[in-house]
Amino acid sequence: APLPEDVGSDDCLASYTHIYSPDLLKDQVAFITGGGSGIGLRFLIICPVLVEYYLCAAVKLSAASGRRCLPLRIDVRQPDGIAAAVDETLKEFGRLDILINNAAGNFLCPASALSFNAFKTVLEIDTMGTFNTSKVVYEKWFKDHGGNVVNVSATLAYRGQALQVHAGSAKAANDAMTKHLAVEWGPSGVRVNAVAPGPISGTEGYRKLGGPAAEAAGSFQAVPLQRAGNKTEMAHCALFLASRASSYVTGAILVADGGAWLTSPND
Ligand code: HXC
Repeated sequence: APLPEDVGSDDCLASYTHIYSPDLLKDQVAFITGGGSGIGLRFLIICPVLVEYYLCAAVKLSAASGRRCLPLRIDVRQPDGIAAAVDETLKEFGRLDILINNAAGNFLCPASALSFNAFKTVLEIDTMGTFNTSKVVYEKWFKDHGGNVVNVSATLAYRGQALQVHAGSAKAANDAMTKHLAVEWGPSGVRVNAVAPGPISGTEGYRKLGGPAAEAAGSFQAVPLQRAGNKTEMAHCALFLASRASSYVTGAILVADGGAWLTSPND
């Protein structure tokens, strides 16, 4: 079967064939951290919504889709800034249906060379950032109205990926958080799930974690599906988890890596 349409840059797709009903998220509002580029931006592009961070992305998106998009610049490490952004979102759109915790920071570094502050920084962005944003959105809206949280995870911790103790530890904590919050918030009508991408072309993570070199060296032949994934494929996973397509799914971690973590060498 043909792959879903993709473009390697942070531009809108030239064409897109809906795999779900284009009305799946009609009238819904999503708050997406890290929506200015990569997987977060692609989710915005294929979904009828929205809210995200960076002005250039918002302008591109509105021009391509005609949908409303409110760009907000926040640091997920700062709860006060998140609270102000969520207030502004609610003021502008009057509701909130979906939270995608997509913002993350990462780089390759051996544990012995990793400074204390470097480890802490990644935990603060990935783990604290996910908790901070989830808690603010829950308190301000989801507690009384229900909603869907989708966390963007990783498979790094499953086999203890080399050079990734910081991001692997952070994402493992997020997987635990996904389950804890699914249990506590389920009775309020809030589902909490995660998607765990593998190597996804055209993303900052791909560039920073050696994707292009791996591709050039033919390393993706070791992946069961024998290729890197694309951003549209990840957006489809997030759309499934964020929508009523997955209405009885909560506390789940959807691994979307072409089977990479099962077979890829770890060195
Ligand atoms: C070692 C590094 C480093 C590097 C920064 N540090 N980059 N250490 N190798 N390449 C150290 C710094 O020296 C400093 O420690 C500490 O980390 C904090 O660095 P700052 O630059 O002050 O932090 P900040 O400006 O907050 O930047 C955070 C960041 C940055 C994570 C370091 O790269 C960033 O903002 N990235 C966001 C975009 C991003 O990375 N996206 C890709 C996500 S991919 P000292 O001790 O010197 O003070 C992803 C996917 C994972 O998450 C799964 C893939 C399969």
